[in-house]
Amino acid sequence: MEAAAKAVASVNGHGPGPIKGLPPGPRMPRALQTAIWSRQAQWFLEQSRARFGRMFSIKIAYEGDWVVLADPELVKQVFTGDPRVFHAGEGNQILRPVLGDNSVLVLDEKKHIAQRKLLLPPFHGERMQAYGEKMAEIAAREIESWPTGVPYKLRPRMQAITLEIVLETVFGVHGGERMGPLRDALRDFLDLTTDPKVLLPVLTIGPDRINRIPAFRRRVEAVDKLIAEEMAERRRAEDLAEREDVLSMLLLARHEDGSPMSDAEIRDELLTLLVAGHETTATALSWAMERLIRHPEKLERLRAEVEDGAEEYLTATIQETLRLRPVIVVVLRKLTEPVELGGYELPAGASAVPCIHLIHRDPHIYPEPERFVPERFLDNPPGTYTWIPFGGGIRRCLGAAFAQFEMAVVLRELVRRRDVQPADPAPERPFRRAITETPRHDAEVVLH
Ligand code: HEM
Repeated sequence: MEAAAKAVASVNGHGPGPIKGLPPGPRMPRALQTAIWSRQAQWFLEQSRARFGRMFSIKIAYEGDWVVLADPELVKQVFTGDPRVFHAGEGNQILRPVLGDNSVLVLDEKKHIAQRKLLLPPFHGERMQAYGEKMAEIAAREIESWPTGVPYKLRPRMQAITLEIVLETVFGVHGGERMGPLRDALRDFLDLTTDPKVLLPVLTIGPDRINRIPAFRRRVEAVDKLIAEEMAERRRAEDLAEREDVLSMLLLARHEDGSPMSDAEIRDELLTLLVAGHETTATALSWAMERLIRHPEKLERLRAEVEDGAEEYLTATIQETLRLRPVIVVVLRKLTEPVELGGYELPAGASAVPCIHLIHRDPHIYPEPERFVPERFLDNPPGTYTWIPFGGGIRRCLGAAFAQFEMAVVLRELVRRRDVQPADPAPERPFRRAITETPRHDAEVVLH
């Protein structure tokens, strides 16, 4: 009798011990779940939550079992969990062939902390001020070149702005004969990271063998050569110590034992910052405009406050955009040993997956979650485990302050300089590109 009661209690998740194994989830075959995930991730997540609750399992090709978490308390346990048990780098191995073995994104534990420490100083909040003027100049120049009176896709233009900003602030390259070839090589390199023709082979033959494909090697080598030249020249620059770009700071950075970063480390981190920061920020900027122009009264309020030199509504607009249209919908932590979470003992090898999308759409946290209401953040600053567009814990996005600062600069320049209207009144739906969720029509607008 007692044993039976115990068994029932533990099936309900309230028993004395956790249930061994994965929480329930959709029963479809792995291949089908993967296909739905890659085309309709948000729908798939919402359907699964409606059926299975705030913790459910899905199966994604080659990635193994994902235990999706849509509860801030569970998300907190993962973000504050032991980094030896919750591996984020292991979940990013697909990026290793392009970003290299030293990339902060693909490492875990001690090696991860060592690289992260080297990268933190250039990304401290107060450093952003130094980049502000350059960012505004780049944005203004680009915006002034846009045509008026015709339908115009903002996303590619936002990518142009964020690429120029990376060249200037991360690589420290402005003008000169190096700029053109470096810009072209970086653009080509970025295509590698979003091109399905490249991603598919990485998925099927695995990250280790992709480097043997000549066409792949050639493209990576082209960008490596230009970065090596840039590093060599920068080392000789007389003003190296005064320069504020990330490359110059990394050349002077020291490991804990006093040794400098190797060329390979610097190369890997520069490309990591490019890949992690370029498309994400451009997409977030596109969503901000996509939402604002469909709420003219909010756009007007933003414009008026920006003209007055106020920041609050601008900040709230950015926070609300990243809540309602997070660029990335999940983050992953691969478990190196069994972990107790939410009444289950999850097996090693599975991934705990804090779900940005579902947390941000929870009506208990955000009343009327589908509505775009920047005002909700005016008196309530975002919560650490309820607003997670940049992930969290020891792996939280290194560029979070940088990205929000950059978004503020670009939006300010845009609303001050142009009247923006939708090319089509219908809202744009999210469309999956590699790992980001972008506006389906690339935020098509008409400028006046
Ligand atoms: C709106 C723009 C951006 C969004 C939405 C975004 C989002 C994210 C997310 C979700 C993660 C994973 C966090 C986790 O696993 O907990 C991440 C990591 C990272 N991001 Fe961003 N990011 C943005 C912009 C940037 C920028 C501008 C940079 C740098 C210039 C950057 C650099 C990085 C790096 C280096 C990591 C890896 C951190 C680590 O593993 O320790 N990101 N980002």
